Amino acid sequence: MTPSPFGSSLRKDFFLEEDYTPLNHGSYGTYPRSVRPVLRHYQELAEQFPDRWSRFDMYPELRKNRELLGNLFHCDADELVFSPNASAAANTILRSFPFEQGDKVLYFATAYANVNSTLEFIRDHHKVELVKIELDYPLSDAAIVDLVHETLAAEKSKPGRPIRASVIDVLSSLPGVLFPYEAVNRICQDNGIITIIDGAHAAGQVPLDLHKTDPDFFFTNCHKWLFVPRGFAIIYVPRRNQGYIHPHTVNVAYRPHTEGTDTSSFEKEFASPGTIDHAQYFCVAEALKYRESLGGEEAIMQHNHDLAVRGGALVADILGTTVMENEDRTLTAAMVNVELPLKKDLALAPGDIATTFIKKLIYEHKTMASPFYNNGKWWVRLCAQVYVDLDDFKTGGEAILKTCQEINSL
Ligand SMILES: Cc1ncc(COP(=O)(O)O)c(C=O)c1O
Repeated sequence: MTPSPFGSSLRKDFFLEEDYTPLNHGSYGTYPRSVRPVLRHYQELAEQFPDRWSRFDMYPELRKNRELLGNLFHCDADELVFSPNASAAANTILRSFPFEQGDKVLYFATAYANVNSTLEFIRDHHKVELVKIELDYPLSDAAIVDLVHETLAAEKSKPGRPIRASVIDVLSSLPGVLFPYEAVNRICQDNGIITIIDGAHAAGQVPLDLHKTDPDFFFTNCHKWLFVPRGFAIIYVPRRNQGYIHPHTVNVAYRPHTEGTDTSSFEKEFASPGTIDHAQYFCVAEALKYRESLGGEEAIMQHNHDLAVRGGALVADILGTTVMENEDRTLTAAMVNVELPLKKDLALAPGDIATTFIKKLIYEHKTMASPFYNNGKWWVRLCAQVYVDLDDFKTGGEAILKTCQEINSL
């Protein structure tokens, strides 16, 4: 039998500290050592002759990297632009889309904190109305689809403007679960609602086919699961909508548009966000090369999923609790969520529980997994990755158990 290329022996390929048990890849990501020389090379190129590089030579290189990502995500390079991270991407789309006063925006209670705040910002500054759907997990995909149908029907019967846009996760952050984003995208579009898909965790964790899904707007981090250096996200905008948005750093290429289909300045507006270090944007080929050396996208995703399932079961066993899953087992991709054995009547405020938990894991146990509250219970999200194995889940699970016991006795 060929030995598995995956597991803690791969840790040497990354910069991770030797005695760190890395179970939280999802928050910030990290990239392999082999990508670092490429990053440095492009930083040096930019310094050798700054004018030549920044005015001319950089652009064809940026284009090549957009093409590589277009191939990976099944869309055209012309439909992809760079953004420093998913929070910036959400701001770009939500703050430049031409909402009208009273438009409604549909979103889910599990939306990422920064996205949530951006929605509150447009509520306060563009006078849109927010329509929230609560999600108490574990939920089946069918139950989520039902909630969407029910909400749309209820909103239709209300006076005022209709729902104009929706914000939909591919995988929500906390809980770290797969969301039926393709089905919800379709339902929203069938109801004339623009879809903005937050795929912050998607690239490198789940396969993407953007032309097939056909969202109105989509963004994903590449610095989380795809192994390129931070900060690296891309925004996908099909040509029909490119006239609707502008980068949030407006620059000399800005042109006003009245139609979404006006593509005339989209690429130029996003190409020059002022003077910044773009070096991470040139690292796509090297990151993909490393991923190929491990067997490629499918092998990585399969390993991470299998490990998340087995690791989650092991941690639930150690904690004496359960994994957050539904009957069809659609919630777990490479992140798994396990209930925490915390008392119901803790004296600490929820924010203090989370901070105490995180600090203890980081500083006393040299590991990390994100705690969160959903459906009346505390849970923890654990991430599988190519450099993680089952023993890491055991170490993490034992640290989590001790931490919960200590918090229970505070
Ligand atoms: C669903 C989701 N959206 C957006 C973000 C923001 O990503 P970033 O911190 O790279 O801006 C995150 C971060 O974890 C996320 O999980």
